[in-house]
Amino acid sequence: MCGIVGYIGKKEAWPILIKGLERLEYRGYDSAGIALLDKGNFSVYKKKGKVAELSKFIKDKNSNELSGGVGIAHTRWATHGIPSDQNSHPHLSNRGDIVIVHNGIIENYLSIKKVLINKGYKFKSDTDTEVLANLIEDIKKHEKVSIDEAVRLALTEVVGAYAILVLSKDEPETMIIAKMGSPVVIGIGKGKSKSEFFVASDATPIIEHTNKVVYLEDGEIAIINKKNKKLTLKIKSIKNNAIKNPYIHTLKTKIEELEKGGFPHFMLKEIFDQPESLRNTMRGRIVFNKGSIKFGGLEKFEKEIKNLKRLTVTGMGTARFTGLIGEYAFEELSNIPTKVEYGSEFTYRNIADTLNTGLIAISQSGETADTLNAIKKAKKEKMLTLGVVNVIGSSIAREVDAGIYNHVGPETAVASTKASTSQVLLLVMLAIYFGRMRGLSKIKGQEILKEIEKLPVLVEKILKNAKLIEKLAKKYKKYNNFFILGRKYNAGTAMEGSLKMKECSYIHAEGCNSAELKHGPISLIDKNFPSIVIVPMDSMYEKMKSSIQEIKARGGLVIALTTESNKELKNIVDDVIYIPKTLEILIPILAFIPMQLLAYYISVERGNDVDKPRNLAKSVTVE
Ligand code: G6P
Repeated sequence: MCGIVGYIGKKEAWPILIKGLERLEYRGYDSAGIALLDKGNFSVYKKKGKVAELSKFIKDKNSNELSGGVGIAHTRWATHGIPSDQNSHPHLSNRGDIVIVHNGIIENYLSIKKVLINKGYKFKSDTDTEVLANLIEDIKKHEKVSIDEAVRLALTEVVGAYAILVLSKDEPETMIIAKMGSPVVIGIGKGKSKSEFFVASDATPIIEHTNKVVYLEDGEIAIINKKNKKLTLKIKSIKNNAIKNPYIHTLKTKIEELEKGGFPHFMLKEIFDQPESLRNTMRGRIVFNKGSIKFGGLEKFEKEIKNLKRLTVTGMGTARFTGLIGEYAFEELSNIPTKVEYGSEFTYRNIADTLNTGLIAISQSGETADTLNAIKKAKKEKMLTLGVVNVIGSSIAREVDAGIYNHVGPETAVASTKASTSQVLLLVMLAIYFGRMRGLSKIKGQEILKEIEKLPVLVEKILKNAKLIEKLAKKYKKYNNFFILGRKYNAGTAMEGSLKMKECSYIHAEGCNSAELKHGPISLIDKNFPSIVIVPMDSMYEKMKSSIQEIKARGGLVIALTTESNKELKNIVDDVIYIPKTLEILIPILAFIPMQLLAYYISVERGNDVDKPRNLAKSVTVE
């Protein structure tokens, strides 16, 4: 799980590569490295730690050492071997003729390594990638083929997932790109600099240079080399060398969307983006006069959708928690029996009966391997697969039969915020869409749509009180354990709130259905174990109030998150956070926001790296 970047053209490659790595750091930041090819020689620099370490190291070099219009770079999230300079990419082959960066896992690398060791190859790192570099070298040497053919042949021997970039000393104006399972995009230079190419794990490093891109598909190898003094791109099948016609996409993402927009951290910017991101999620989709929703991406499958008798919702992390909220919405509005599963479990267990069952896969990045594998399994089971994805053109978006996009723009902070509220909103909208095909009345549909349209303004109202939550963060930052409690729709909210606390504040927070508290967890309560209780004035209000009483009776501290008209709780609990009134089914969208702010401010108070918390990566493309 890593980010890869490549450049080939007339400009100096290294500044483009370093900037590209910075944009891809969300994919992992255990180490970073860069390889430049100039006049038939490689310069390889790698450093343990974040891209900033590599950048500092490189800037101290003299310009000779950094020259080269061809280069590849990598930011790593360790899978094979500890984070270290040695295990960082790029990896050179034994003779130093070939250099490679890789995102993914070569599953059969140990058996290949054994064969290569027997042939006399030596290994400097513990990585699967160095094995691939030497396999390519070995094939090139013995088969006497060009670098692209050597890469292709090597890939027919490997099992696993990869997006790789390869350079060879023998062909200094060539870059090879190949894909299976991990994403890679090729940007085609525009205007005067048409003869240059940018390659990256996603489009964020490319967008400032060109909006013309080609997404490489699984099983494809791309060759960029010089023909008649001009760089050209050719795509072939890894399996049989068949030539493929690249489809050139025009990207619409604006560069300013990628920047922090004046906020100290991406996470805070993205929290404050939410009035706008929710507007973008619903834009053009609400058909008020029919009390329904229009999802362009689903139209082709309307017949299959009407026939669905059951739903399985899948995702990991935040996406699964928003799925738990969706489960309640589908059962309430669509009258479809629904269950939620970890993608990782669905893939490997027996599925009893899949007739007329749809899989809804939720993923911000669209790259989460556990979720992607669940889709592949569902397709084998002949299930209809639908995606709720943010990143356009991502692997999951392309794998599902049909899908809907969040349209919230790039989410850069590792902890999901604007994508999560958009996921909940889309799931409620989907529930209305399914429901209107299954007896949900137009009036009921309209009633919910009217409230949905008010959400952005209600979110703005919550954000205006961010300072109050910042104050609470100062008060509660010292506690290392929290319960976050809710019921019904807000049981999922409690889980998501606890994930935010874990991810960014490094606090052990347990999201718990509050009814379960008395069945065991309550024994943990004492004056050092505060609880955040999500207690809006909805159908569960009285029950939630009992949970508060149970905690108070045992000396526990309580922060209550309740509806703004509620006056009684402030006399019972230690602190209160207010959210505006809305329909019960929409409360999680509002309740997520104070949770995000609290986790953010506690993280800042504790001096954590808010946008890139330790041990995490935004997009987890390994199982
Ligand atoms: C990682 C992140 C989580 C995220 C999960 C699913 O584990 O740390 O914050 O919720 O992936 O990501 P996805 O891109 O599929 O929504």
